[in-house]
Amino acid sequence: MAYEIDLGDKHVLITGGASGIGYGIAVAMLQAGATVTVTARTKESVERCETATPHGELAVRRLDVTNDLAIEEMLGDFKRLDILVNNAGKVIRGGNEVRPENFADVLNTNLIGTLRMSYACLGKLVIAKGCILNIASMTSFFGSAAVPGYAASKAGVANLTKSLGIAWAPQGIRVNAIAPGWIDTKLTRPMIENQPERYQTIIERTPMKRWGTADEIGGAAVFLCSPAASFITGTTMIVDGGYAAA
Ligand code: NAI
Repeated sequence: MAYEIDLGDKHVLITGGASGIGYGIAVAMLQAGATVTVTARTKESVERCETATPHGELAVRRLDVTNDLAIEEMLGDFKRLDILVNNAGKVIRGGNEVRPENFADVLNTNLIGTLRMSYACLGKLVIAKGCILNIASMTSFFGSAAVPGYAASKAGVANLTKSLGIAWAPQGIRVNAIAPGWIDTKLTRPMIENQPERYQTIIERTPMKRWGTADEIGGAAVFLCSPAASFITGTTMIVDGGYAAA
């Protein structure tokens, strides 16, 4: 039996969605018929964002998820909001995340940014009986010597997903996360380019013997935000070609 997902009447907001995984999710949401707004942190990223896609037009807004006032202003312009995707994320490479100021900086975007957006959108999501999708990581489950702030933030995102899933279920809001495996994006490019042996080790360890693509996260995102997932909340779905299972 064919099962079609139709998000035709939904407005989706994706933070950091002008590139990479967020953009892959945005295009998948458009394909499912949704109206999609992506945000980008800098003016240059807003200008670079390819708003015309084969599945329709994306709206793009400038937003820093650490800025409460900017969030409030942007949400004031939205008539409705059905789906929030907390995708914005950063990493500080070079072993520098162990410095407390960098650790705090990464947590402020990845973890507190996720809470900040979720809390700010709560009123609109309650009206829409909407849902939230957070982007976690393999480091939600594993430690990382190289990026301890990033790993702590993503462990936090997986746990926050459970807590908000429980807290907001009575209001009809589902909260889930996706933990992507290794995806070739702007975030991972420096690692791909500077550590070819690490890139190769990841391929070898992944049962499907490759890195993933942003649109492969898009399919899982559409499912988790659709009526097909109506009894799923507080969970983190792993989409990693089998990496975490191996
Ligand atoms: P990306 O660099 O293309 O996307 C991250 C986006 O977040 C960028 O557009 C960036 O400008 C934005 N951002 C950073 N700080 C921000 C802030 N303060 N306010 C608003 N936006 C901000 O990289 P990618 O890989 O697409 O990352 C998307 C999400 O996926 C991130 O949360 C990342 O941690 C997560 N992820 C990525 C994996 C990968 O292998 N690429 C694996 C697991 C998780």
